[in-house]
Amino acid sequence: MTVSDQTRIVVLASGGGSNFQALIDHFRSVSAAVDIVGLVASRTTAGVIERATRENISCAVMPGLTTNSNDSETRFLTETFDEWTPDLIVLAGYMRLIPPGIVKAQWGKIINIHPALLPSFGGSGMYGAYVHEAVITSGARVSGVTVHFVDEVYDRGPTIAQWPVPVQVDDTPQSLAARVLKVEHLLLPAVVEAFAEGRVTLGEGGRVEWTDEWFSNEHFTMEG
Ligand code: GRF
Repeated sequence: MTVSDQTRIVVLASGGGSNFQALIDHFRSVSAAVDIVGLVASRTTAGVIERATRENISCAVMPGLTTNSNDSETRFLTETFDEWTPDLIVLAGYMRLIPPGIVKAQWGKIINIHPALLPSFGGSGMYGAYVHEAVITSGARVSGVTVHFVDEVYDRGPTIAQWPVPVQVDDTPQSLAARVLKVEHLLLPAVVEAFAEGRVTLGEGGRVEWTDEWFSNEHFTMEG
C-alpha cells in the first residue's frame, strides 16, 4: 500500500490514551491502512499528549474555554480539521460533546468508543468508573464495548460494532473496567481498519452498512 492510499485519521482524547496507543500499535505492525495524522487533546493535563510526543504525532490542545465555548470550540475544531484533512475522526476517551456544526460538517466521519453495550449505560455523566459502577449496580451479567457513529447527543449515534464482556459476581468497577479495556483495544482498531477499507459506512437515514458479516457477534468470544 502506498502512502496516498492510507486513510487519514485524527484522534480526539482527554485521558491516558491507551486506546490511542492501541491504534498506533495496530497500524504500525498489523495494518498500514491508516495514517494517524494528529491528536486533539481536550486539556493540557491529558496523559495522551505524552504518547503523541513520544510517537512523533502532531498534537493540538484545545484552548481554555470561554463563555461562548461552543463557538470557539467549533472554530478550533474546524481549523484543526481543515489543516489535517482527516477521512475519519476517532473519539477515544474524549470527554466533550462534539458541537452540532462539526457533527454536520463531518457527518458519517466521526466515531466513538464506549465501554458498555449501548444504548444502556451511556449518555451524559456516563464515563470512566461511573459506567462500570452502574453496570454492576444494575445486576447486568453482561457488559461490553460499543463503537458507534457520532451524532449531536452523547453516546446515541448508530452502532457500528459491539463486543460482549462478562460481568463476574465479585467484580469491582476497576476489575470490570480492566476486562472491558482489553476488548476496547481490539475492537477500536478493527473498526477503524474496516472503515479504512471501505467495508463499513454510514448510509442513508443513518443506517450502518457493512459489505461483509464481520460485525456479527459469532466470532467474538466473551473475553476477547
Ligand atoms: C475508555 O474506556 C473509552 O471507552 C472511554 O474512555 C476510556 C478511555 O481510556 N470512552 P484511554 O484514555 O483510551 O485509556
